[in-house]
Amino acid sequence: DGHFSEKLQVPEALTFDDVLLRPKESRVEPDEADVSTRVSKNVELNAPVLSAAMDTVTESDLAIALAREGGLGVLHQNMDAEEMAAEIERVKRADELVIRREDVVTARPEQTISDVDAMMAHEGVSGAPVVDDDDEVLGIISNTDIRPYLGVNEDDLVEEAMTDEVITAGPDVEAREALDLMYDHKVERIPIVEDGKLDGLVTMQSILERREHDDAARDENGELVVGVAVGPFDVERAETADEAGADVVFIDCAHAHNLNVIDSAREIRETIDADVVVGNVGTKEAAEEVVDFADGIKVGIGPGSICTTRVVTGAGMPQITAVAEVADVAAEYDVPVIADGGIRYSGDAAKAIAAGADAVMLGSYFAGTDEAPGRVITVDGKKYKQYRGMGSVGAMQSGGGERYLKEEQEDEEFVPEGVEAATPYKGSVASELHQLVGGIQSGMGYVGAETIPAYKERAEFVRVSQAGQTEGHPHDVMITDEAPNYSPQN
Ligand code: XMP
Repeated sequence: DGHFSEKLQVPEALTFDDVLLRPKESRVEPDEADVSTRVSKNVELNAPVLSAAMDTVTESDLAIALAREGGLGVLHQNMDAEEMAAEIERVKRADELVIRREDVVTARPEQTISDVDAMMAHEGVSGAPVVDDDDEVLGIISNTDIRPYLGVNEDDLVEEAMTDEVITAGPDVEAREALDLMYDHKVERIPIVEDGKLDGLVTMQSILERREHDDAARDENGELVVGVAVGPFDVERAETADEAGADVVFIDCAHAHNLNVIDSAREIRETIDADVVVGNVGTKEAAEEVVDFADGIKVGIGPGSICTTRVVTGAGMPQITAVAEVADVAAEYDVPVIADGGIRYSGDAAKAIAAGADAVMLGSYFAGTDEAPGRVITVDGKKYKQYRGMGSVGAMQSGGGERYLKEEQEDEEFVPEGVEAATPYKGSVASELHQLVGGIQSGMGYVGAETIPAYKERAEFVRVSQAGQTEGHPHDVMITDEAPNYSPQN
């Protein structure tokens, strides 16, 4: 009775190149556009950008670099749980105000000056608390104290040269307070003392370094935020991630509308303290299944640059429509939405947010940076870095099969949903992010929106024809110089 031919009365689904933002009246200067946002119910960012949980994209180096610029790195899951916990801790400790006791370089009163001088040079520090056997702080010794002795009385002991009036603070000291103490007493380091014992060290250098990154995304303790991907059924790993200090746990699944995945995600949400983002989904029906418990919803079925899901399985949703459908549902519950995959240019990120996303996730965009794992290779004089889909044969062999709901198989061959590739080498995360965020801010300027929530409300789209699409790229010219935010082969 026409059942099958009715199936062909299909709705249209659109993606990045099908639409453009309609320019609107504006008083917003791009530099003033505020790009702070939420990635999940309880985690805020100062840049609406996440790096993909892929083994050629996000490990602690990239997560640290991105969080310092206001975004969020999501660690991949192709490592064992112990390694994952260590990676989370690395990010958490990267910018910490108080250097922990075990990391503080200390001197002993009976050491000679020449000995302590060599030790400090070797450890790369310019001063050290002097402690006794009970870890009580007796003084502090710095290069300034040592200098008059060098070449003259090098065999004298530390206790003679050290400053023995030490300014100390308790473990709860705050950055502002520590800095005031340093200025008042003209010192550069303050030992943290608890119960009479050395417990850590605050240095002027660490405070100033933190100030350099005043847009960093930090938790309530001032530590960098970090996300981590876990397999949809790996409750234990989610708990380990939570205990290690992850701010957001991402249920990492290519098809989160699988009801077994949703049951498990719900269990993880009930078990851990960290926020739980569920994904990936691409329809309003899927969003409706998860919106009552998820702290964030991640959207993307097949838009990724290394992704072959749509050609291998025949399933997928063009990304702009997918984001808008999910955002319709999420908005009612005030749950943030993340658009994951397919973003090649900053304009794509601007479109994804206009379609209802609170933040965007990128893989290929960051895979070529210095901070991404993997080395630079040179082909015909051009530099590249490896970039592979987590559903590629290589990545699944390294343990990533669960994302695609596939058991690890020994004899049978995997049916991959991604490819292994290379991406042009790009330089630092900070410079890439500067271009990306700058492009989003300019988009906000064209639409006349000062904040991300206002932009999501105000932005309107027009549909673009193939001719309009061609017109939008450089045409009828030969590009002679590389632009930092455009490359034609993308
Ligand atoms: P971009 O376009 O930023 O996409 O490179 C990154 C996103 O792609 C997803 N991803 C995959 N999708 N097969 C897929 O279908 C894969 O092998 C694969 N690996 C990653 C993932 O959502 C990532 O964030």
